[in-house]
Amino acid sequence: MKVVLVAAISLDGFITRHDEPGSNFTSEADSRYLQEILPHFDCCIFGGASFRVARTWMRQRLMPDKLRVAVTRSPETYADEAEPGRFEFTSDSPRKIIGNLGARGYQFCALLGGGQIYSLFLQAGCVDELWITLEARLFGTGTALCPGHVDIPLELISHDNLGGDTLLLKYRPNR
Ligand SMILES: NC(=O)c1ccc[n+]([C@@H]2O[C@H](COP(=O)([O-])OP(=O)(O)OC[C@H]3O[C@@H](n4cnc5c(N)ncnc54)[C@H](OP(=O)(O)O)[C@@H]3O)[C@@H](O)[C@H]2O)c1
Repeated sequence: MKVVLVAAISLDGFITRHDEPGSNFTSEADSRYLQEILPHFDCCIFGGASFRVARTWMRQRLMPDKLRVAVTRSPETYADEAEPGRFEFTSDSPRKIIGNLGARGYQFCALLGGGQIYSLFLQAGCVDELWITLEARLFGTGTALCPGHVDIPLELISHDNLGGDTLLLKYRPNR
């Protein structure tokens, strides 16, 4: 089971513009790139806050034929919205979630944020690669890519220009 953290950030490391929910700051180049890569994953994971921000889009357009897993401290709240094998809610730890997905035959998982969930999985050692879209913008404030006191060394795998001023940086944790 391979887990790839997929995120778009400002040059100063924020995944949101100030306290604006969502990621409307991202470029056309990033949208095209996401449309290209997401079909290759067989499952994805995101946090409760990201789910609440983009609920309709996630239900209707985010990998609708694949398994989507929302991580929340109260999965029972979403019992009516859960569809086993398609849309699941869990409060399990990262290791348990990944172990469970692997045991069910899933092989390629996109970790789609937000910051709390990136941080949780990174700190648990459950991320194999980070695919970071770097947008040429500075925000000063916002939701951090990986909030908290962390120091996670990374190894650069590749760097590409997605078009215009937008870069794609791929890393792996240097364990
Ligand atoms: N630019 C990008 O690439 C990008 C990507 C994704 C998201 N975003 C944006 O980032 C923002 C959300 O980021 P965020 O960091 O505030 O929130 P988040 O990571 O999306 O979700 C946080 C939520 O995850 C659940 N959670 C956190 N720790 C947990 C734990 N240990 N066990 C179980 N559940 C846990 C809780 O859900 P409950 O409250 O349900 O318990 C918590 O409120 C949104 O505005 C979103 O649009 C941007």
